[in-house]
Amino acid sequence: MIVETINLTRVYRLGSSEIRALRGVSLGVEEGTFTTILGPSGSGKSTLLHLIGLLDRPTSGRVLFRGRDTSLLSDRERRRLRLRNIGFVFQTFNLLPTLTALENVELPMALAGVRPPEQRRRAIRLLEEVGLGDRLHHRPSKLSVGEMQRVAVARALANGPSLIIADEPTGELDSKTGEEVLRLLKGLCEERGVTVLMATHDERAARLSDRTYRLLDGVLQG
Ligand SMILES: Nc1ncnc2c1ncn2[C@@H]1O[C@H](COP(=O)(O)OP(=O)(O)OP(=O)(O)O)[C@@H](O)[C@H]1O
Ligand SMILES: [Mg+2]
Repeated sequence: MIVETINLTRVYRLGSSEIRALRGVSLGVEEGTFTTILGPSGSGKSTLLHLIGLLDRPTSGRVLFRGRDTSLLSDRERRRLRLRNIGFVFQTFNLLPTLTALENVELPMALAGVRPPEQRRRAIRLLEEVGLGDRLHHRPSKLSVGEMQRVAVARALANGPSLIIADEPTGELDSKTGEEVLRLLKGLCEERGVTVLMATHDERAARLSDRTYRLLDGVLQG
């Protein structure tokens, strides 16, 4: 198991009101699989992915990464674990608009302390791998949405992660382009052995997955 969650809860406090976004979620993600979290808007998918991706801490419960209890780690240790092991793909790509495709892919490597020549070599190879070898110097505004998402996938792969977390990666894409991005993620899983954990509200997007968890109102179903 690459990731396990044990009875995760997350309560957001807004003034005097409380939103219980997750109400005790326990699940496992097997190494090398394509796992999907399927649920409608507001069901807690992003909240869950942020906790698993170590971007946020639960109100209660635990996230184990390869058996290691991440709640026992300092912020610095969590950041290090995240940078080396986890890549993120977001619905709205989150590319930096002033950087080229190449520079966007280099950024996580710079944060991990990879030397610049090596950053460049790896970034070129990754962009070629996602089919963007001829778009290296384009800024996001000069790319199609499908191309932007492929840059984001290349960026997620920058530090050779074992886990890719994708939060509605096809949400902004038309069905054909969305299909291409799903195939790309599936290929990473099959050819590189990368574990993919994807959230979606689209039943069809879930069909490529090895395992599907259904989330409703912060609770796993079935
Ligand atoms: N930072 C926050 N502060 C307060 N409430 C939040 C916050 N983030 C999410 N919520 C609430 O928690 C619940 C779960 O939200 P979450 O974003 O995890 O759902 P989701 O399944 O990702 O939805 P979507 O499909 O629309 O992205 C919702 O009721 C949402 O309004
Ligand atoms: Mg969401």
